[in-house]
Amino acid sequence: MYQIRVEPDTVIEAEAGRRLVLAIEDGGIDILHRCGGNARCTTCRVEIIDGDAGPMTEWESERLSRVEDRPENMRLSCQVQVRDDLAVNVLRRLRDNPDMSDPGPRPIEWPADHPLPPE
Ligand code: FES
Repeated sequence: MYQIRVEPDTVIEAEAGRRLVLAIEDGGIDILHRCGGNARCTTCRVEIIDGDAGPMTEWESERLSRVEDRPENMRLSCQVQVRDDLAVNVLRRLRDNPDMSDPGPRPIEWPADHPLPPE
């Protein structure tokens, strides 16, 4: 198990290989995931404050290359499999978007040893 600290003061336990977006959501944080975890919307974006978020999937890399003024530590949490203790800053939350009724379709679970491509 790894610890995910969501700034400023939430600490979540996550199994190795768990999709970061699901660990964050199941930890009670209302992170957005408007495309259902398919590396399209970027609403699941987080800043990695500490820890190793691992390599990017090709879909994440391609999608983030189109985000203007992107901080170097920005990642798409739907494309990150937890492999280390992390500290993250969640950048898009439901509570900050009163026009939305839900965070988006729930991303599917990724088997830890079988990374899946976006649907
Ligand atoms: S890019 Fe849409 S949920 Fe991650």
